[in-house]
Amino acid sequence: MPTDISRRSFINNSASAMLAVSSSALLGAAASAQSVGPLPAALSASDETFWSKVADQYLVASDITNLENGYYGVMTKAIMAEYQRNIELLNLHSSHYLRRSYDASGLAEVRAQIAKVAGVLPEEIAITRGATEALQNLITNYRLLKSGDVVMYSDLDYDSMQYAMNYLKERRGAEVVAINMPEPATRQGVLDAYAAAFAANPKTRLLLLTHISHRTGFVMPIAEIATMAKAKNIDVIVDAAHSWGQMDFNIPDLKVDFAGFNLHKWMGAPLGVGFLYIRKERLADIERAFADGDWEASDIRSRVHSGTTNTANVMTVPAALAAHTGLGAANKQARLRYLRDYWVSRVRNFKGIEILTPDSPGSYGAITSFRLTGKVSKADNLAVANELREKYKIFTVRRGGVAAGNCVRVSAALFTKPADLDRLVAALKTMTAS
Ligand SMILES: Cc1ncc(COP(=O)(O)O)c(C=O)c1O
Repeated sequence: MPTDISRRSFINNSASAMLAVSSSALLGAAASAQSVGPLPAALSASDETFWSKVADQYLVASDITNLENGYYGVMTKAIMAEYQRNIELLNLHSSHYLRRSYDASGLAEVRAQIAKVAGVLPEEIAITRGATEALQNLITNYRLLKSGDVVMYSDLDYDSMQYAMNYLKERRGAEVVAINMPEPATRQGVLDAYAAAFAANPKTRLLLLTHISHRTGFVMPIAEIATMAKAKNIDVIVDAAHSWGQMDFNIPDLKVDFAGFNLHKWMGAPLGVGFLYIRKERLADIERAFADGDWEASDIRSRVHSGTTNTANVMTVPAALAAHTGLGAANKQARLRYLRDYWVSRVRNFKGIEILTPDSPGSYGAITSFRLTGKVSKADNLAVANELREKYKIFTVRRGGVAAGNCVRVSAALFTKPADLDRLVAALKTMTAS
């Protein structure tokens, strides 16, 4: 353990973490895929030799098959070791490190690395404890609302963000319009729904969009909706809690000025870290956090004030980013879609099952929800998830809030094996046969 805990040592530590990750079998596996030639992503997604090496990077319990990986992302063994190392480092050097090195330079380095991978400037990012903290600050501090302006969200958005939008009615006199997405959602159906909602609500000023719905897994065509919204002077705040790390994109691809992200879901950092993004030119349109006096108003860090947080998780972000870029966002996305297609293509034609996301490219990632036909209540879907868990040892989760009814969400992870999904398919076959 270094006794000189300067910026240099932090960066060296980060670098050695990256070295550890990059010299691991994870990147060894990536290299072996490359050695057979530049495989198209779709082909390498089904290369079980390659992906079983990636799966081996994770340590997961075998008492249940976990197909509920939307909650948060398990760290690889290498990232977990780096996290433990950072906890030890903090415990050893404590405030001496935090006061003299971390605040001054270590944190800036983490921010710079996030910005680089996301394709934006470090000054457009502020680290938060997760997507909730990021989005609550963006929504509740949006400055351009006048009393009577409309703020809009849909049934597929996350509950906490719906609550934050509702708060704008209580505190700012905004009118809240909640719309329902068509089911099954399709790209065109969703675009039409937003076009109709904008036409019906000409006073709309602020729109919440969720990039990947945690309820159904549908991937919203964010850039297209944002372009439509911009033409009507509507600002968009994107909830990207699930998408960055699961899908291959840079923030500017979304064509929005405000977004909130998680690093502890599909990016695989330790629990309790995310960030908010505000396009540089729009910083003034988000009020500073009500209790911040630490930073100038011209500094995005004044838009969130978390207090003392778990620092070891933030220090571990570079290792998670290195694993992500080492494996390749496109490869990750392709594998996760392949696993989703693997089970969906086998059950879609079963009588008595409804799949809530379409198969069109770009409309889904790792997550997809289903419903047994006619089973729309909370109790119905809890019963389905319970049966999968108790009888078949497969863990999924019921999701509510979808206007057309409750459903059961299935989310595979990079450690999921096709054999796990075969067991899900067999279970659903039996459950729909009765
Ligand atoms: C769509 C969506 N938004 C926001 C969040 C909140 O993320 P966190 O609780 O990690 O802050 C979640 C969490 O599951 C989510 O699924």
